Amino acid sequence: MHALARAAGFAGVQVHAAHGFLLSQFLSPLFNRRDDAYGGSITGRRRLLLEVIQAVRDAVGPAFPVAVKLNASDQLEGGLDQEDALEVVKSLDSQPIDLIDISGGTYFPGARSASDTGTAAGSPYFLAFARRARRHTTLPLMLTGGFKTLSQARSAVDEGSVDIVGLARALAIEPELPRHWQQGQSAGPTFPRFDTPPEGGITAWYTMRLTQLAEDRDDESPGSLEQALTDYEARDQTRTLAWCRHFYSTPG
Ligand SMILES: Cc1cc2nc3c(=O)[nH]c(=O)nc-3n(C[C@H](O)[C@H](O)[C@H](O)COP(=O)(O)O)c2cc1C
Repeated sequence: MHALARAAGFAGVQVHAAHGFLLSQFLSPLFNRRDDAYGGSITGRRRLLLEVIQAVRDAVGPAFPVAVKLNASDQLEGGLDQEDALEVVKSLDSQPIDLIDISGGTYFPGARSASDTGTAAGSPYFLAFARRARRHTTLPLMLTGGFKTLSQARSAVDEGSVDIVGLARALAIEPELPRHWQQGQSAGPTFPRFDTPPEGGITAWYTMRLTQLAEDRDDESPGSLEQALTDYEARDQTRTLAWCRHFYSTPG
């Protein structure tokens, strides 16, 4: 898969070990109940990640950028906590990778999802963890989650905690934002304010916003959260039908 990405012209690959996906589940004591070499203490729970990294490196060769996305915490009771996450950072330091991207949260019900939190003023979510991680690795560190202004991004980099700042929702609102910031326009994007968001509404809103960007409809807005949720669910239903028709239809 990663070698395919390189052949397809991508400039690098990221091993996703965050947000509740498979490798993140292995890291998490909440999900990983194994009693073999891949479970138990963090030494066991991180084993699969380290093996995957080596396999990816072997597949893409020594010069191709490989990043690892890691949760500072699952934000789930009994999940991966910051102490264990720091142990993972320490072990990543000697791995053949080029970047650690710090994130957090999972998509599991009951967990606070980083992308479904309100967008009122606040600070980057995992900066305190990044500061601790900085002391345990010389690898370039990236931090994603909660950055809304140039001054937040600049201060995280200037204080030496991170080398790169990741932006998701800010870019969905204003895809040209990094260029604006580079050109000295320090204004951030205007984030929509959602007072009593329905569950999943904010992520649906941003998902529909990404759809607009993909369809070159940048100047439009997804409208209200309720409208975005309705559109999102309708689209999902259409897709589900298409998938079912494609994968479950019997020939003839
Ligand atoms: C609509 C939407 C889709 C997302 N999809 C992904 C994804 O596929 N993989 C991923 O690692 N993170 C995904 N995220 C999470 C973002 O990468 C990021 O961690 C999160 O939005 C917090 O960063 P921000 O405050 O800059 O938005 C998504 C976020 C949003 C809003």
